[in-house]
Amino acid sequence: MLNFWEKLKAKAEPIIALAPMAGFTDMAFRQICSSYGADVVYAEMASAAALFYADDKNDNGTMDLLKWEAKKEGKYVVQLFGSQPEHFATAARLVTEKIQPHGLDINFGCPVGKIIKQGAGADLMQNLPRARAVIEAVLANSSLPLSIKIRAASGSVSAVNFLESLADLPIAAVMIHGRSLSQGFSGEIDFSLVNKIRPFFKGVILINGGIVDLNSAQQALALSGADGLGLARGALSRPWLFQEIKENKKIIYSLEDVITLMYRHASLLVELKGEAALLEWRKQSCWYVQALPGASQLRSRLVQVSTIADLKNIFLDYGFNY
Ligand SMILES: Cc1cc2nc3c(=O)[nH]c(=O)nc-3n(C[C@H](O)[C@H](O)[C@H](O)COP(=O)(O)O)c2cc1C
Repeated sequence: MLNFWEKLKAKAEPIIALAPMAGFTDMAFRQICSSYGADVVYAEMASAAALFYADDKNDNGTMDLLKWEAKKEGKYVVQLFGSQPEHFATAARLVTEKIQPHGLDINFGCPVGKIIKQGAGADLMQNLPRARAVIEAVLANSSLPLSIKIRAASGSVSAVNFLESLADLPIAAVMIHGRSLSQGFSGEIDFSLVNKIRPFFKGVILINGGIVDLNSAQQALALSGADGLGLARGALSRPWLFQEIKENKKIIYSLEDVITLMYRHASLLVELKGEAALLEWRKQSCWYVQALPGASQLRSRLVQVSTIADLKNIFLDYGFNY
């Protein structure tokens, strides 16, 4: 039987995924992106260690972070980070049983200091024996299709070396952030990687990095030959980019369209997580307005929002009554 990645690939259209973003790809944002046509949506990365140490008495909130609504989201993938195979074994089993997502993913790309220090994220990509042990632990404890997210290179290990060393494992998909660890979050994307790994990597290949509009999406697909795309920061400011790519046409959002979308997002968040969640949403609101005229003035007010009433008042000043 085909796994969901293979089924998506069989449609012969590019697979468009919302890439994982800690602090952003929560249930509300995943639902927004799914409504614009995202095929696959990744959760915020979750700590395998936190899941390992959680039990019925000591729920440290990680399970809560992973909740989802099947009817309103695309194919849902939970990403785990960590460095200990035994943590991944327990985490994979727990998430598979209790959360029941469509797929599991392992983070091999995070450059953040506190993640690297624990041998996780991009540091794990440099440790081939441990990376293999972690992948095998997940495969042994879950029947869900497993994907991995890697960088173009981490230290002396390139995406090609890394995937070649794992070629015997049944990895269903890879999302390649086409920048090396030393590049961080800016600079050129290495589109040539996809063709280099095709001969030995049999799963679905998504390319990620720098996709901010229809033009860069078309370019990434054409230059890489990937099966699809992972959208990250581009989706934060323009969630409708999924629809633009799916329909292959530019969609112009007016000030009113953007404000209506922001209001919809904020209302959904309050419905799902309560009004306190608007404090986290402040940073997200800044992404929406960055390209709007008068953005800095609007931003300075949005970063003070605490309630839906605050938001309504701001939008009223711009002539929009919700
Ligand atoms: C705020 C933020 C949080 C992120 N969190 C994660 C994460 O949890 N897991 C992960 O694999 N990548 C994470 N990433 C990396 C993105 O998924 C993506 O690979 C990167 O931003 C490059 O894509 P872009 O140029 O389209 O933004 C994060 C990126 C940002 C900006």
